[in-house]
Amino acid sequence: MKKVALFYSFNSNKTARLGEKIVNTIGKDLVDIFDAEQVTVEQFMKYEHIIVGVSTWFDGELPIYWDEFVPAIKGIDLKDKQFAIYGLGDQKGYPENFNDGVGIFANLVIERGAKVVGFTDVQGYDFEKSAAIIDGRFAGLCLDQENQSKLTDGRINTWIEQLKKEGFI
Ligand SMILES: Cc1cc2nc3c(=O)[nH]c(=O)nc-3n(C[C@H](O)[C@H](O)[C@H](O)COP(=O)(O)O)c2cc1C
Repeated sequence: MKKVALFYSFNSNKTARLGEKIVNTIGKDLVDIFDAEQVTVEQFMKYEHIIVGVSTWFDGELPIYWDEFVPAIKGIDLKDKQFAIYGLGDQKGYPENFNDGVGIFANLVIERGAKVVGFTDVQGYDFEKSAAIIDGRFAGLCLDQENQSKLTDGRINTWIEQLKKEGFI
């Protein structure tokens, strides 16, 4: 079985913790892990199946550490790649931008030909608006440690099972 790559910021707080949880759920030997703050395009291009962890900051923006990488992605063709995106947000604190980063990242790679897998239902959340929604569903797994941390483990387990069924893992 081919390994998947997982990119998240090693300096982040909750995104990193949940990244580790995702690795343990998939199995350490099946995942290569990279620091999103240090990543090179070469590392990125080696993998067909890529998981990224993105929290949302600044009222609907990606964290600063993706800022260097995003322009680099803009120059490359991603048509043979599949992405699964997990995001962190706060639906009570930022109800009009809940987990927008998931949608920002999804659109970025879709525009370059990639396929995004692991879409999830919006039921079970309480927010007003989210750029993470594409065609009526979240374009990834939206997590909320501020308000729904008790649901996180179950959501991750269900999502990993879904990714297996979708042939991503
Ligand atoms: C300054 C600031 C801005 C934020 N903006 C948003 C936002 O627009 N949408 C959202 O869903 N969450 C927002 N959040 C919540 C974070 O995404 C959430 O706390 C997340 O768990 C942080 O993960 P991290 O510690 O790994 O970066 C914001 C948090 C802070 C501190």
